[in-house]
Amino acid sequence: MAEGKKVALTGIQPSGTPHIGNYLGMIRPALDLARDYEAYYFLADEHALTTVRDPKLLREQTYEIAAVLLALGLDPERVVFYRQSDVPETFELTFILSCVTPKGLLNRAHAYKDMVAENEAAGRPPDDGVSMGLYSYPVLMAADILIVDAHVVPVGSDQRQHVEMARDIAEAFNRTYGDVLTLPEPLIDPAVATITGVDGRKMSKSYGNVVPIFAADDELRKLVMRIVTDSRRPEEPKDPATDSLFGIYAHFAPPDRVDAMRQRYVQGGVGYAEVKTELAELLQERFAEPRARYEALMADRAQIDAVLAEGARRARLVTAAVLTRVRRAVGIEA
Ligand code: TRP
Repeated sequence: MAEGKKVALTGIQPSGTPHIGNYLGMIRPALDLARDYEAYYFLADEHALTTVRDPKLLREQTYEIAAVLLALGLDPERVVFYRQSDVPETFELTFILSCVTPKGLLNRAHAYKDMVAENEAAGRPPDDGVSMGLYSYPVLMAADILIVDAHVVPVGSDQRQHVEMARDIAEAFNRTYGDVLTLPEPLIDPAVATITGVDGRKMSKSYGNVVPIFAADDELRKLVMRIVTDSRRPEEPKDPATDSLFGIYAHFAPPDRVDAMRQRYVQGGVGYAEVKTELAELLQERFAEPRARYEALMADRAQIDAVLAEGARRARLVTAAVLTRVRRAVGIEA
């Protein structure tokens, strides 16, 4: 490609208001990729159709994620940023790929297997509530990846299997039709941060324990004050390694302050309320500017539309060429 950089692609499903766990675990590492790769980011609104059945909500959440990424520093001039549904080449590739994808491969997908297991445990038919969209989710994801010739796909470990399947599908295609598709690899950073939610479990929308990235100041303070700790008094020594409040603090405070705080934990002399107050301030400072940008974007959807339209235009310069290669390889285009 232009500067000989490898291509990295990542997709984000618009579902729910992003929280600081998403920020550390996914958004920040994804944005960092733009330094070393030719980076593609897209909003997986079609994948969201497998679960979201409310059209207004789907549109709203798609704008939300777009605004969050732009507000946090995604530069649409440096990277290619688009909405999945604006790139129709992906669909055509999805069907072509599904013709070389063994059904048995999809039977082994974790998300599908989990649903079957749940159904069986509840005495329901194994495929109860399983749509074809959900079942073939991995093929659409393979098409997302292969349609831009992506070399690497940065994902959390929960998505590793999907990227491996994309590679398996590309290999199956190439075995039949020659060396046409680029084989992608998952890029999984073991150092990627996971943080606990306010109740001490992993921060996750499904646990209702999240701190939204752009919470209003008073809501943010309230949520931080709710973070569960043990009942040690300020003067008692505390264990920074097991305290989830410290865990979150350590991700947002500058290193020298983290060191100082660690010492105060070990020696005793700091109360959890003080740590919480400091953490709330750190989060407010860190996200104040992005929040203002986010609010301005959400108040001007036309601006988001324009950015995504330009992103789709640029993406399609690549996806159209890849699709032509594929159509010729399989014999539906001369
Ligand atoms: N399945 C991914 C998730 O839920 C989202 C996604 C869709 C994706 N298509 C992709 C991620 C392609 C990387 C590449 O997080």
